Amino acid sequence: MTEYLIRPAAESDLQAVFEIEAASFGSTAWPFEMMQTELAPNPSRNYFVATLDGLVVGYAGIGVVDGHEADVMTIAVSDSHRGAGLGRRLMNRLIDVAAKRQAREMFLEVRADSPVPQALYRSLGFEQIDLRKGYYQPEGIDAVIMRLDLSARIRELAQARLSEPVVLGIESSCDETGVGIVRGNTLLANAVSSSMDAHARFGGVVPEVAARAHLEAIKPTLDQALKTAGLSINEIDAIAVTNGPGLAGALMVGVGAAKALAVATGKPIYAVNHLVGHVGVDVLERGGVQTPTVALLVSGGHTSLLLVRDLIEDVELLGETIDDAAGEAFDKVARLLALGYPGGPVIDQAAAQGNASAIRFPRGLTLPKDMEKHRYDFSFSGLKTAVARWVESAEQAGTEYSIADVAASFREAVVDVLVSKAVAACLEHNVPRLLLGGGVVANARLREVAKERCEENGIELRIPALSLCTDNGAMIAALGAQLVMAGREPSGLAFAADSTLGVTQVQTV
Ligand code: KG4
Ligand code: ZN
Repeated sequence: MTEYLIRPAAESDLQAVFEIEAASFGSTAWPFEMMQTELAPNPSRNYFVATLDGLVVGYAGIGVVDGHEADVMTIAVSDSHRGAGLGRRLMNRLIDVAAKRQAREMFLEVRADSPVPQALYRSLGFEQIDLRKGYYQPEGIDAVIMRLDLSARIRELAQARLSEPVVLGIESSCDETGVGIVRGNTLLANAVSSSMDAHARFGGVVPEVAARAHLEAIKPTLDQALKTAGLSINEIDAIAVTNGPGLAGALMVGVGAAKALAVATGKPIYAVNHLVGHVGVDVLERGGVQTPTVALLVSGGHTSLLLVRDLIEDVELLGETIDDAAGEAFDKVARLLALGYPGGPVIDQAAAQGNASAIRFPRGLTLPKDMEKHRYDFSFSGLKTAVARWVESAEQAGTEYSIADVAASFREAVVDVLVSKAVAACLEHNVPRLLLGGGVVANARLREVAKERCEENGIELRIPALSLCTDNGAMIAALGAQLVMAGREPSGLAFAADSTLGVTQVQTV
C-alpha cells in the first residue's frame, strides 16, 4: 500500500514545489527565484513536503523567530491529491516545529474567498484577528489574518519531551562515525560511516587517520540520519555525544560537532559514556535494560567487563584488558597469519575449517597467581606472542601446519577467557544476566560458547542486533534519552573529550 509521507524539504524538491505553487496560485504564485531562496538552507525557515511514492504532492513552509513568533509562508497541495487530509498534516507539522522552536504565537493569511482552508485552520485552533482589504492583487481579494496561540502546544511538547524525547546521538570514539536518532526507547535512524578501509593497510586503527575521516564523514552522516528519521534538526529535543573513552582526536570531532549543533539550535546537550552506551542500546530492542546485568564489551578499542546495577546510576568496572583489546588481538594475529584486515571476520572464516583443540594456546590472566589482582581483567598480548612463536618455530622446523588449526585454536583461547570470566562475574555477583556488546560479538564461536555456558549456568544471555553492537550513534542517543527521561540536567558546554573516561561516569556535566 502506498502512503503519504511528510519530510523536511530538500533543495532537490525545488522544481516539483515550484510547479505546485504555480498551478495552485496562478498569477499570485511566487516566482521561481523566490521559491529557490525560500527552500535554500536557512535557520529561520522550515519547509516540509508531502510525498507519495517519492513524488512531491504538497508542501508547506514556516518562518520562525525562535522564542517569539512564527509565520506560515505558504502551503499548497496539488490538485489531484486534495481531500486526503494532507493540508491538515502539513499544517500540524508546521505547528509542531514552531512550538519546538518555542514560538509563542503563529500567524497566517488566507484568501477571504477560500472557505475550505479557513475552516481547516479554525479547526486547528486559529482565530481571525484582522481583515486586510484588497491584499491579494491584482484581483483585490481580502486577506483574513489568523493567529494561533502556541502555549498549549508548547506545554504538551514539554510533557512529550520528558516522556518520549527525540534525541540525536553522535559517536566518534574510534573508527566509526555514527549518528543515531531515537524517540524515547524507539530507534528512528542509525547512520554509520566507517573508516575501516582506510586503516586496512596499517593492520589497525590509526588515530590521525580516524580523526580526519570523522571530520569528513560527520556532516553527511548527520544528514543521512535526519533523512532516514524524516526530521529536521529543529525537531530534535536533545543532542547526546560520546565524550569518552576512546581516541582523543577522534572524540574531539564528535564533541565539537555536537557542541556546534547545540549552540546553533539552542538544544540541550548530554555528554555520555561510550561503554555505558553499549549497554544502554538494549532499550531499543527491549524497552529497557534489565538490571542487574553483567556486560561484556569487546571491540577493537576496548575489552571491559561491567557490573550494571542501574544503567544511569550505578555502573561498576569489574575488569578490563591490561594490554590489547580482544578485537585488536584478532587484528594482530590475522596480520601475522597474512589473512587480511579486519582480523575478526577473516579468522572466523579460516577457523571454520580448523580444529580448535589442535594447539593449546595460553589463556591470559587465568592462573591462580593472577586471580587475586586480575580476577576479571584480560590480557591478550601473551597469546598473540605465543601464536607468533608457534608459527615461527613451525616454519623454522619446516613442518607443514594448518592455518585453519592455528586460527581455530587462537579463537578458542580468546573466546574461552572472555566467556569464562564473564560467566564467573555473573555467578560471583549473583547476577542472572549477561549482555554482550562491541564488534567482536560478530564472532561465531563467541556467540556459540556464550550461549552454551550461559545455559549451563542459568544465565540469560542478551545479544543486541549486530548493527547495534558495533560502534554506533543510536546507542549514544538511546543512553541520552534515558538521561532526559530521568529528568537529568543537560551537560552544558564546558565538558571536554576524555580519552580515559571511567565507566562510573555515565554522564559528564
Ligand atoms: O565495535 P567495533 O566495530 O569498533 C571498533 O572497535 O572499532 O569493533 C571492531 C573490531 C575489530 O577489531 C574486528 O576485528 C572485530 O571487531 N571483529 C571481530 C569479528 N568481526 C569484527 N572479531 C572477532 N570475530 C569477528 N567475526
Ligand atoms: Zn565500542
